[in-house]
Amino acid sequence: MKTILVTGAAKRIGRGIALRLHHEGYRVAIHYQTSEKEARETAAECGNAPLFRADLESVDEIQRMFHQVEEQLGSLYGLVNNAARFRRKDPLEITEADWDFIHNVNLKATFFCCQQAALLMKKTGAGRIVNIASLGGIRPWPAYAHYCASKAGVIMLTRVLAKALAPGISVNAVAPGVILSSGQEPRVQDMIAATPAGRSGTVEEVADAVLYFLNATDFVTGQTLAVDGGLSQR
Ligand SMILES: NC(=O)c1ccc[n+]([C@@H]2O[C@H](COP(=O)([O-])OP(=O)(O)OC[C@H]3O[C@@H](n4cnc5c(N)ncnc54)[C@H](OP(=O)(O)O)[C@@H]3O)[C@@H](O)[C@H]2O)c1
Repeated sequence: MKTILVTGAAKRIGRGIALRLHHEGYRVAIHYQTSEKEARETAAECGNAPLFRADLESVDEIQRMFHQVEEQLGSLYGLVNNAARFRRKDPLEITEADWDFIHNVNLKATFFCCQQAALLMKKTGAGRIVNIASLGGIRPWPAYAHYCASKAGVIMLTRVLAKALAPGISVNAVAPGVILSSGQEPRVQDMIAATPAGRSGTVEEVADAVLYFLNATDFVTGQTLAVDGGLSQR
């Protein structure tokens, strides 16, 4: 059975991806940081999936997590880089700490998780990496400069690593538009109104795109698939 590690898999989109992969026959490994209770619930629903806790701001903790994955599970076929941070802030007020808060998880951790996963995947010669980017990495959102820059970085990282890790290991990205989970703000309603599909997307629709890349051959690599109801076309 192929093992896929999903980061930030306790709740929301990460949880939905983990559940979907489990139902499709993959062995899922659940990463979480603070949401231990929810992570245990997700793991139970994924056939008592193994749990890995790490603060992804720390490269040491990332390396430790991948060592644990190898020790406990033997090999790794897939990685879904889902964990991220999202903050609204006027660009004229963004501080160094705000910048690092977003980039340390969204871009730096995504890179080092790719690196550590690829080192494991190289041992078998095959692997699939799916980075969860964002429509914000494609379209400029003025109140989210640091977030948009981090996700644009994820898209370029996807392309660079697709070249660097081929053949055998594919690297692709999914860029969600507005995905409804809970507690949506009024401005999200404005984005939903602007979405050609006329609605927000679902966690299941994001999971579908992730599953496509995991199931695809290594001939599909370096791609970013927007799951956004057409919003990136406006
Ligand atoms: N929701 C949307 O509409 C939307 C739109 C576009 C793109 N996306 C992207 O889709 C992905 C999932 O979105 P979401 O809204 O479901 O995410 P989320 O709930 O904001 O965050 C997912 C998880 O990231 C983990 N995380 C954050 N900082 C971490 C750190 N320092 N170390 C380890 N884990 C950390 C958290 O784990 P713990 O809770 O365990 O601490 C959290 O549960 C993200 O990459 C996001 O940028 C979402």
